Amino acid sequence: MLMSPWRSDFPALAILEAQGQTYLDSAATAQKPQALIDALTGYYTCGTANVHRAQHQPAERATRAFEDARIKVAQWLNAACPTEIVFTRGATEALNLLAYGLEPLIEADDEIVVSALEHHANLLPWQQLAKRRNAKLLVLPLNDRGVIDMEAAASLIGPRTRLLAVSQLSNVLGVWQPLAELLPLAKAQGALTVVDGAQGVVHGRHDMQSLACDFYVLSSHKLYGPEGVGALYGRGESLLKLRHWQFGGEMVRVADFHHAEFHAAPLGFEAGTPPIGAVIGLGATLDYLSRLDAAAVSGHEEALHMRLLAGLAVRKGVRLLGEPRLALASFTVDGVHHGDLAHLLTEQGIAIRSGTHCAQPLMSALKVDGAIRVSLGLYNDGTDLERFFSALDQALELLQ
Ligand code: ALA
Repeated sequence: MLMSPWRSDFPALAILEAQGQTYLDSAATAQKPQALIDALTGYYTCGTANVHRAQHQPAERATRAFEDARIKVAQWLNAACPTEIVFTRGATEALNLLAYGLEPLIEADDEIVVSALEHHANLLPWQQLAKRRNAKLLVLPLNDRGVIDMEAAASLIGPRTRLLAVSQLSNVLGVWQPLAELLPLAKAQGALTVVDGAQGVVHGRHDMQSLACDFYVLSSHKLYGPEGVGALYGRGESLLKLRHWQFGGEMVRVADFHHAEFHAAPLGFEAGTPPIGAVIGLGATLDYLSRLDAAAVSGHEEALHMRLLAGLAVRKGVRLLGEPRLALASFTVDGVHHGDLAHLLTEQGIAIRSGTHCAQPLMSALKVDGAIRVSLGLYNDGTDLERFFSALDQALELLQ
């Protein structure tokens, strides 16, 4: 029957179900575990305080909880040290931080390399940086399976490459990218490497010390945590290369009217009051996730994904984008507009995403104007897929 043993840890699932909603849009944002809700309630109920500023007891408590969360993120990623974790407002802000922070290192005619599958968040900051510096943006093509073409990468990454920025797991294609082969190509040219882990971090554990990228970004809300917070992992020596980008309270060491000196990372890149409750909530979410049997979670996700692919494979006219390997599947249906199909699925209480999935250039490269995407969380079960397929069949009967 493919039941999720963790479904009842997520109270929203029962409420959505009572409302007739089947949630299959976890790649956009995930539902939240009770452990997170309890942590947020605890923090807001027991007295909030700002962090790193005051010596009173509530502030001391908030600062300790905030810095504990930094340690938990560092442990989750196996970073060498908690100071390699900078809290941001999300993965998008972390990528923008990098694009501004690394700007002085980019000169005219330098090359910044991205791939054809990038989410706008890992494309537009680099595109705009290239424009500001008269640098070139090179795009690594994909093969038919939706994987970065390594032969093309080997010829495109060269002595002018200053930076490689790629996704670990595509939010449209659901395919791991060959980072273990790709990152050394950039390293061999002395280039910095940035990995967009917004989707990848949700599935399995990723070890920053063995991944050997310079920077890795994640967003909390896709990892079952609260919104409004993300993290930038930066290798110690790589963080030293960043120019400060947002200025204000707590990131500054000394200031007078005409001059200021700033803290190093992480505090130097956390200007203003951070999202304290959300950071503490992310820590509690990681505690919850750490308690789960990781092999059982990936086994369940894999079984669900196989059932999703098997169901799509037997429906007439369904075409997958790429060859999704986990977590999600994006597809079109011959002769059916994705918007019409999404409308009929929505009417039947199926919460999926349709459109270009914040990856318009990828959609153009695939020669489609949009697609339906079904994405799975650890709380989904076989019943969710049965409801989805029954709604899909009814919709296709009308549309085909
Ligand atoms: N990046 C999110 C998605 O793929 C919003 O849906």
